Amino acid sequence: MSTPLLKIKNLNVSFLSQRQRLHAVRNVEFELHPGETLGIVGESGCGKSATAKALVQLIPRHYADLSGEIWYADQNLASFTEKQMQKVRGKEIGMIFQDPMTSLNPTMRIGKQIVEGYLRHFPDVSSKSAWAYAIEMLHLVGIPNPEERMNEYPHTLSGGMRQRVMIAIALACKPKLILADEPTTALDVTIQAQILDLMKEIQRKTQTSIVLITHDLSVVAKCCDRVLVMYAGKIVESATVDQLFANPQHPYTQRLLQAIPRLDKCKSEPLIPIEGTPPNLSLPLPGCGFCARCPAAMRICVEQSPPLLHLKDGHYSACFKHDPRMSP
Ligand SMILES: Nc1ncnc2c1ncn2[C@@H]1O[C@H](COP(=O)(O)OP(=O)(O)O)[C@@H](O)[C@H]1O
Ligand SMILES: [Mg+2]
Repeated sequence: MSTPLLKIKNLNVSFLSQRQRLHAVRNVEFELHPGETLGIVGESGCGKSATAKALVQLIPRHYADLSGEIWYADQNLASFTEKQMQKVRGKEIGMIFQDPMTSLNPTMRIGKQIVEGYLRHFPDVSSKSAWAYAIEMLHLVGIPNPEERMNEYPHTLSGGMRQRVMIAIALACKPKLILADEPTTALDVTIQAQILDLMKEIQRKTQTSIVLITHDLSVVAKCCDRVLVMYAGKIVESATVDQLFANPQHPYTQRLLQAIPRLDKCKSEPLIPIEGTPPNLSLPLPGCGFCARCPAAMRICVEQSPPLLHLKDGHYSACFKHDPRMSP
């Protein structure tokens, strides 16, 4: 196995308000290898975006506490100053977020946005070559008539085209890692498929690593090598995509898979919703976050937090049912 490009150890994020502390990311640990696509999946509010933002220190410290180690190659980004992080963001780690309309600057022409981002990290390049390079990037992401598009403002483009511009901006600096947080959620399925294919194709050419955050398991199945399932701020299962779909181990993952429609199942077979709601993350959570909704919960699940146990071949699940001491 290659040396990991990213190694996260014991990452915790708490949001602070006057009244409470909301523990959004809890002891998250994972590795990402060069050229690998890691999916992070889980329902809304489980801490996916907070994890991604914490990796690039985009969570303002005045209302959040962050702890843990974020090893990018041999550097711990958790110890970096804002000035140091500005050199990492964009150049080493590119970011594609959910809504291109809020991430692109509506008052700046598209060409200028790509060129400025590029020149910030490559100041020695002439503006003429940067302009030509920006056209090349728009071409690469499949934007027709890129020369003309360079002079347009974001609002003149469709949602799919704006998302392509976001990808062009993220790729322009040739980052080794791309954090894509729900990059296609706002798009219709055909455009979604085109954008995901495009990201995969560019990844094949450039050996970029991708962290792909989504609440959509079909996106995981299509794009990812490995996947982390998050629930209530924790990783509850970590597996290859094949392992996850063929042999899900955590009760939450099993329920999640039962709740999605499948073409190979009889139409009269009902979808099984997951009863109940996730726990309130601003209250202490001594046990497993899923136990109140889990049909197989035991007493220990309420009292203690299950560790992420290695089952086999790099498949992990955080459930006491795997603990040999629990067998009848
Ligand atoms: N800026 C914030 N201030 C307070 N709470 C926040 C903030 N951002 C996120 N949260 C809370 O943290 C938890 C995780 O949020 P988030 O990471 O955005 O979830 P996801 O991306 O999985 O939908 C949620 O309970 C959310 O309400
Ligand atoms: Mg999110």
